[in-house]
This record gives sequence, structure tokens and C-alpha cells, in this order.
Amino acid sequence: MSMRLRVVVATPLTEELGRWIQEQEPRIELVHDASLLPHMRHAADHGGDPSFHRTEQQQRDFEALLDSADVLYGVPDSDPAVLKRTADANPKLRWVHTMAAGGGGQVKAAELSDEQLERIVFTTSAGVHAKPLAEFALFGLLAGAKTLDRLQRQQENREWTDRWMMGQLAQQTILVVGLGGIGRRVAEVLSALGSTVIGTSRRETSVPGVSSVIHPDDLVTVAGEVDGVVVTLPGTDATEGLLGTTFFGALRPGATLVNVGRGSVVQEDALVSALNSGMVGFVALDVFATEPLPVESPLWHMSNVIISPHTAALSATEDRLIAEVFVDNAARFLDGKEVRNRVNTREFY
Ligand SMILES: NC(=O)c1ccc[n+]([C@@H]2O[C@H](COP(=O)([O-])OP(=O)(O)OC[C@H]3O[C@@H](n4cnc5c(N)ncnc54)[C@H](OP(=O)(O)O)[C@@H]3O)[C@@H](O)[C@H]2O)c1
Repeated sequence: MSMRLRVVVATPLTEELGRWIQEQEPRIELVHDASLLPHMRHAADHGGDPSFHRTEQQQRDFEALLDSADVLYGVPDSDPAVLKRTADANPKLRWVHTMAAGGGGQVKAAELSDEQLERIVFTTSAGVHAKPLAEFALFGLLAGAKTLDRLQRQQENREWTDRWMMGQLAQQTILVVGLGGIGRRVAEVLSALGSTVIGTSRRETSVPGVSSVIHPDDLVTVAGEVDGVVVTLPGTDATEGLLGTTFFGALRPGATLVNVGRGSVVQEDALVSALNSGMVGFVALDVFATEPLPVESPLWHMSNVIISPHTAALSATEDRLIAEVFVDNAARFLDGKEVRNRVNTREFY
């Protein structure tokens, strides 16, 4: 395939990284007008400064740029409705790369026509968050194993009690639900610590660091063997509510749960009941069924729950890693090869 792809930057990006992308792949024409995009307040600030507003003229200019693109770097304004408008207005649009790893959700929310889903390739930034999220998973599992809530409570009360035994990840069995980029990294670090790792996949039979791979339909059958669970699944119709009362009821009592995938995978009411009954002993959540987590959620008040407002994936290297995924995919796209991280437009992940 021989062509020069016009790539319009539709999301906040540093000028430096824009230049780097252009240098890496001279077969693209990267169009980046920073004056039409919000300012980034920090690394990985893909939404940008919310106080930013375009004048009417700037809005027209922005839309004209979007409508001239073969490719969009980012979902414009991180807004599925703007993506839909652009797909309607620009019949040339052939590829959109989302900043989010779970960008399939944005594509689903855009409610594109079959023709648009057929014509436009959607790719995500899956994989770039694996390292920080694996660390968060480890942080949650360690907090559970080392009884963080009890330590904090006793310290607050200046209470020196009899000694008690803490869990050791090296002696624990951890279930990693989902063995994509994040799940594999979680398995890698856990196996290095000596944990026994069970993982789930609908396809894979063997994954480094994972001693047994089970089908997600069989979660309940292994629940009684595990001391900790790390959820890394995307939010799709098929994964919604996958972990509920039956699963929590089958766990080894006092197990730790970490969720870094999507909140919709866990039935929060069932989780709260399992925390109250002690079936689940400690929880670390970066994602929630509803975000922001509603103020009335009982999770806010539980001392054995860590609430992270969907922030555990952010890192100083994220923007560069996303650009690397994009550059690699641009070469594949131009060479007519299969792109990486293509959104499955039936399940939308
Ligand atoms: N907390 C955050 O800020 C943050 C950041 C990045 C990503 N995420 C979330 O984490 C998700 C995973 O990220 P990733 O980079 O690991 O993605 P990935 O490499 O695409 O892996 C996703 C895995 O999910 C599994 N899966 C998909 N649908 C399933 C289903 N119906 N039942 C069981 N398993 C299913 C797939 O496993 P098989 O095909 O092997 O069955 C696949 O390996 C993203 O989609 C996103 O929602 C959250």
C-alpha cells in the first residue's frame, strides 16, 4: 500500500511528542494545532484542562481539521458524540487510535453505523498500563496480606497488641482474572515473588508465570483455593457482573480482591455483602461500576477497602508509550499488515 496518511491530533499532546511521532514515520502527515486543544495539566491528561473552550471560529476550524483526516490520534474531545459527528461528516476517516486501553467502550458509546464500524479501524492503547497497574495490584494484595487495616487502626489507637501472623504472597495462590497485557504482567511479578498463579482465558492454555489457565466460566470451581483475586477484564456485555455472590461465597474466607480492569465486572452490592460477612477480607479498587463513586456508596466507609479514583494507571511515561504503539501501528497500517490492539467491534474491547 503506498499513500501518505493525514493524521489529525484530536487529543492533547505535547509538541515534542507530536514531532517525535512525525520523525518516526515520515509516511504520515501529522497535523497538530495545539491552539485548538486543551492544555495538558499533567502527563497522560488526555481530557486536558476542563476550563478550555473554543471560540465559534476555533470550533469550526477544529471540525474542519477532523473532517480532513484519514486518521485521528485520539477520540476528539474524549467524547463519543464528537466521534460520531466526525464519522458522519468525514467519509475518508479510516482509523482512530484511542488513548484509553479500554477505548472499546468509547467506540460502543458512539453508536456508529455498521458501515462506519466496517470502514474505520479502531485501536486502543492496551498494554501501556500493564506495569503501573501490576504494581497497584501488588500493592493491594500486599495490603491485604499484611493486614493494613488492622495496622492502621492499632496505630491510630496507640495500641500494641499480641503478635499475629501476616500472609505471605510467596505462600499464596492468586487468581488473575484476564490474561491480557495487564494480567500477564501481574502474573509475571507474582510468580517472581513465589506466588502460585491461576489465570483465566478463553483462548490461551499456557502463559508464563501462570501455573494453570482456566476458562472464565470455571471461576467458581477454583475460588476456594485462592487467597487473592486480581481483576483485569475489560467492561463488555459479556463481562458485566461476572464476579458476584456465588463467586464471593466460594472464596477462601478473608481473600483479598483487587480490580484494575473495569468496575462493571464486579457486582458491587455482592462485594459489600462479602466484605461485611468476612468472605472478602480486603479490597483495593481503581475502578467502579459508577465513576465517580457515588458519595452514598458503603465502600467509602470501610476500613478494609482502598479506593483509588481510577488513577493507578497514570505514569510519566504513558504518553510516550501510547505514541510508540501508534507509530508501530502506523507502519503496520501503511504496510497493509494487521494492526495491534484492534477493537473487537462485536464485544467492544
Ligand atoms: N485502571 C485503569 O486505569 C485501566 C488502564 C488500562 C486498562 N484498563 C482496563 O483493563 C482492561 C484490560 O487491559 P489490557 O491492557 O490487559 O487489555 P488486553 O490486553 O486487551 O486484554 C484483555 C483481556 O480480556 C479478556 N476478555 C475479554 N473479554 C472477555 C470475556 N468476555 N470473558 C473473559 N475474558 C475476556 C481477553 O482474554 P481472552 O481473549 O484470553 O479470553 C483479553 O486477554 C482494558 O480493557 C481496560 O478496560 C484499566
